[in-house]
Amino acid sequence: MASVAELSSADTVELFKQYVIPNYTRYPVNLVRGEGSFVWDSEGQRYLDLFPGWGCNLLGHCPPRVVQAVQEQVATLIHVPNTWHLDAQGRWAKLLSEHSFGGQAFFCNSGAEANEAAIKLARLHTPPERYKIITFEGGFHGRTLGALTATAQPKYHEGLGPLMAGFVYAPYGDLAAVADLVDDETCAIMVEPIQGEGGVRIPPAGFLQGLRDLADQHGLLLMFDEVQTGCGRTGEWFAYQHFGVTPDVMTLAKAVCGGIAGGALMTTHEIAQSLRPGMHAATFGGNPIAARAGIATLETIAEEGLLENTRRLADFFRTRLTALQGDCELIEDVRVQGVMIGIELSVDGGPVVQKCLENNLLINCTQGTVIRLLPAMTLTAEQAEQGCEILAQAIGQLAG
Ligand SMILES: Cc1ncc(COP(=O)(O)O)c(C=O)c1O
Repeated sequence: MASVAELSSADTVELFKQYVIPNYTRYPVNLVRGEGSFVWDSEGQRYLDLFPGWGCNLLGHCPPRVVQAVQEQVATLIHVPNTWHLDAQGRWAKLLSEHSFGGQAFFCNSGAEANEAAIKLARLHTPPERYKIITFEGGFHGRTLGALTATAQPKYHEGLGPLMAGFVYAPYGDLAAVADLVDDETCAIMVEPIQGEGGVRIPPAGFLQGLRDLADQHGLLLMFDEVQTGCGRTGEWFAYQHFGVTPDVMTLAKAVCGGIAGGALMTTHEIAQSLRPGMHAATFGGNPIAARAGIATLETIAEEGLLENTRRLADFFRTRLTALQGDCELIEDVRVQGVMIGIELSVDGGPVVQKCLENNLLINCTQGTVIRLLPAMTLTAEQAEQGCEILAQAIGQLAG
């Protein structure tokens, strides 16, 4: 396929210097095309992408069924407001409901928006004097002010105060600390069932169940942020299904539309009644293109056996990376849940990411020392091996 790039990487960087606000740290590379787990830059270089779309491209780049659904839809009806019914939005909600806990959906456009909806719902559903939400250190819930306040990481709060009132933070995994924070003003607990940006942190046994028990005991909503873990990423449809603990509210985004922007909040029929007409909205939420992409994403996962492939990939990565850990003293821990992988180093992981980029492998480092891979569920065994090989060399070089 011919490249669609109109500019070289160097020219694109120049354009950005002049016209794009520099609020991201970007590689000096202009990506122009993607297919499965590969992307190409405007110079024709091909990269193996083990972090496609920052977790959004869970089916790889340009998954064929999503592409087809979007192409059909964009030529038929691009957008209509939520003052109308839309069969695609209804069918998408039905599929999400059937794959999770059987409730109803509110649609929006991003993870932060989904979490804002959850925060409002928690306050609306509980008595007026209850407004506090307990969240967790190392968590990440988005950049809008509510979601940001829920994000208990001081580095993201710098210079932005005063933040929203009503959030209190507990150490992730510490049930006793959560119990201590609950008071008569608490309305909800919001938690990632596996922390993503926080370093792929899998909770200790019994933690989520303990939160469920506390929520039940005190009449709180238990809200799981599955923006990163949802839609098959962990080898189940939703991460909570590994733990046998069902939330009252679940938020989704990232992969929910197979790479198209979209977000959703799922809740039970009973709790959903608290979001009455006019109380919350998103102009583009559940739009026809997102809805068709969302349906195509869920159908692809179900019909192409991708949950099974994810579990096979998890076994592969666990075995391969644990063996690597045995050979390399810089690796302190390996955490794998489906295609959500964290490799904790004892040193800064930045140089590993850079080395991998030089060898045409795209990965991520979070929290300074945790190499994070969020590969596509469609990754092949050969690609997984190839990626591990390059990664092992990069870490090996760091070890000297
Ligand atoms: C768990 C979690 N929640 C929320 C968000 C925010 O999503 P968005 O960037 O779509 O607003 C992220 C983004 O990384 C996330 O990982």
